[in-house]
Formats: sequence, structure tokens, C-alpha cells
Amino acid sequence: MNLRLRGKRAIVTGSSSGIGGGIAKTLANEGATVIVHGRNKTEATKVADRIIAEGGKAYVIAGDLIKDDSAEHIANEALQQLGGLDILINNAAAYVNRGWTEATANHWGELYNANVLSAVRMIRLFVPYMKKQNWGRIIQMASGEATQPFAFMPDYAATKAALVNLTVSLSKELANTGITVNTISPGIIVTPGVERFYREMATSKSWATENWDEIEKHVVREVLHNPVGRLGRVEEVANFVAYVASPLADYINGANLRIDGGSTAVIN
Ligand SMILES: NC(=O)c1ccc[n+]([C@@H]2O[C@H](COP(=O)([O-])OP(=O)(O)OC[C@H]3O[C@@H](n4cnc5c(N)ncnc54)[C@H](OP(=O)(O)O)[C@@H]3O)[C@@H](O)[C@H]2O)c1
Repeated sequence: MNLRLRGKRAIVTGSSSGIGGGIAKTLANEGATVIVHGRNKTEATKVADRIIAEGGKAYVIAGDLIKDDSAEHIANEALQQLGGLDILINNAAAYVNRGWTEATANHWGELYNANVLSAVRMIRLFVPYMKKQNWGRIIQMASGEATQPFAFMPDYAATKAALVNLTVSLSKELANTGITVNTISPGIIVTPGVERFYREMATSKSWATENWDEIEKHVVREVLHNPVGRLGRVEEVANFVAYVASPLADYINGANLRIDGGSTAVIN
């Protein structure tokens, strides 16, 4: 299938690692020019270098999204490098392993700023350019936790629910502009960060193994079961995102699209 992404210009926030890095790589493989972004310039540069080595086009922009001025700087630099923007992937997010007892109201506020307002900043900065060209794609990376939260990390789950919600509102606001707005909600996807997280859990739960395949089986059995019977892979999410970001997906709008092996037990 030709995704018709050749020549499209994209920014993937938080693509210096994990899922974002995979999305940037896939979009570039499909012919898009991508901005690889993160706070860690060294890691972002490694991702961009790999893309370029494989024949793709990528630029690096480093910066924090939690403040208006640095977000503006990132957007301006991206517009300058690319001469406009077609695809915005709001992927950057933080998560902290804490529960209701540890998470203070301040923690909730800080995480809301990092995970929700960062996306809002990017949307506000890029939408005027997308409107002018009568085409655009805005994709928020949410999570299965948006609709089926765990008892732990309640502040994180709530930020993901907010993204699902604002996506629907924005899709209505941008009616008849050629811009679609969607969220993608992954289940547990194996990234270096997720691997670290569950290796720590393995110690605290006495799963008595350092073997990742064994730990993964424990996670599927005891943390989040899914009928496929394994955790997700970065490439699977990246391929899905690339399709939704492509012109082939013109009629997908205002949706919360799950990629979780079936772990979210709902009929719609
Ligand atoms: N992995 C999963 O199982 C899973 C499941 C469901 C949803 N998700 C969602 O998918 C997305 C990617 O997750 P991941 O696991 O790949 O995460 P990750 O490996 O921890 O990567 C997060 C990225 O976001 C960037 N970032 C974080 N806070 C930032 C800030 N304030 N300003 C700028 N950049 C910031 C990080 O940049 P630096 O490191 O360079 O600072 C990094 O590139 C997130 O939205 C996450 O919530 C992940």
C-alpha cells in the first residue's frame, strides 16, 4: 500500500526515544520529512542520524514543551526548517510510577501541564498553518488507561483521558478544514522505558527472573491481560500512526483508536 506520505512534513514530539522514535522512523521511511524532537538533543540526534543513514529526511529540534516560550521556539524552528507543517504527532509525555497516596495535587497539575498543555501548545501554534493549506493531521498519543485506568498512576491516566476528550472537541472546531484530529490509544508497548519500569516491578513483586520474555508473560498475566497474549511492539504502533497520518485516512476523524491486543474490554 502506498501511504502517499512522500513530501509531507511532520513533527513527532518526544521522538528522541520509544514510540515517538519509531513513528518518526516510519514516517520518514514512507517519504515524509520529519522533525525529531525531545529534550535530550543527543538522543534525538541518534534517531535522526539513523533515519538519514537509511535514506530518509530528518531534522532535530530539542526543547521542553512545558512552557509557552520554549514551545513557541520549537514550533518556529520547525516551520523554518520545513517551510510549513502537515502532520503533528503529539506523542511526548511523562509518566511517574506513583499512586493516590504519593501523588499530590501539585503532581497532578505538573503532569497535566506536561502531558496535556504541551499538546495544546503545539496545536495552537500549528493549526493556523494547516488551515491555510486546507490539509492537516493532528494525532494525540493517549493510552488504554484513558478509558480503563489502573489504581496506580491516576494522574497519568487522567491526562490521557483529557487528550481523548480534547481530540473530539478539536475535530468539531476544525470541521471542513481538511484537518483531521484523532487519538491513538496503545496498550503496553515494549520501549526501553517500559522495560525498565517492569524490570523494577519484577523485583518488587518477586517474580524472581531477569529474563525479559518471562517478565513480559507476568505483565500480560498480572498487570494487563490481552487476548493476543503478548505486549505490543513500537513498530506496530508506528505503522498504525503512519496510516492515520496519511491521506488515505481522510475519513477517520474525532476517533480514539485502540492498538492494545484487545486489552480494553468494550464493544465499541
Ligand atoms: N510505552 C507504552 O507502553 C505506552 C502505552 C500507552 C501510551 N503510551 C504513550 O505513548 C507516548 C510515548 O511513550 P513512550 O513509552 O515511547 O515514552 P518515552 O520512551 O518515555 O518517551 C517520551 C518522550 O517524550 C519526551 N518528553 C517527555 N516530556 C517532555 C517535555 N516536557 N518536553 C519535551 N519532550 C518531552 C521525551 O524526551 P526526552 O527523553 O528527550 O526528554 C521522550 O522523547 C506517550 O504519550 C505515552 O504516554 C505509551
